[in-house]
Amino acid sequence: MTTLTAAPLALLLDRLFAEADAKRPELAGLPAEELQALMHSKTGYLELYSRLKDFALPVSRETGRLLYLLARSSQATTIVEFGTSFGLSTLHLAAALRDNGGGRLITSEFEPSKVNIARQNLSAGGLADLVEIRVGDALQTLSNDLPEQIDLVLLDGAKPLYPAILDLLQSRFKPGALIVADNADHSPEYLARVRSAGGGYVSLPFADDVELSMRVG
Ligand SMILES: C[S@@+](CC[C@H](N)C(=O)[O-])C[C@H]1O[C@@H](n2cnc3c(N)ncnc32)[C@H](O)[C@@H]1O
Repeated sequence: MTTLTAAPLALLLDRLFAEADAKRPELAGLPAEELQALMHSKTGYLELYSRLKDFALPVSRETGRLLYLLARSSQATTIVEFGTSFGLSTLHLAAALRDNGGGRLITSEFEPSKVNIARQNLSAGGLADLVEIRVGDALQTLSNDLPEQIDLVLLDGAKPLYPAILDLLQSRFKPGALIVADNADHSPEYLARVRSAGGGYVSLPFADDVELSMRVG
């Protein structure tokens, strides 16, 4: 058994994914065009995520498993996450840290009500001791006090900020660090950067909506 597939986490994740399925962001009543515009705006993200503050917006179940698998197989002990929300991805990553023998996960979220929910979920999953939630805009909260070395990153906050968040973290990446960017197709600038020849990454689209990149050198 793994932490991911054993009690209490397995049942907790089943419940949280089922709740997220029942409350999809389409229900926020945002017209599709407005949603697209806000998703691609470097300034509209505060409004977008404030209007979506009651929605979990998790990674898919498959991406959750991928995160666990990557963190385990790379024996990650320091992980940084951009975009906590209710903590579903965080639970997968923290479970991997537990099964790797321990470590540190720094995650970032600016909606206080979501931080409270994530904390409850991490406690219910028995993983709170591994996770530091930094409350506020990740552009600030991830700009200092980072671990010397970062083994794995999940980018899952405002899509137009992916390049800026990469800038904050990049100097700490260990050679071979893995960067998972969810819905990266909404950040063409990010994709161009990690896919560019000589840009310091080996990168590929993985499944429908994930860009998986590895830091070289
Ligand atoms: C797609 S959700 C994250 C889902 C989460 N990773 C999961 O799988 O459960 C994106 C979250 O990022 C937060 N967010 C977006 N931009 C942010 C920023 N600049 N700083 C901190 N949090 C941000 C939003 O409030 C939202 O809760």
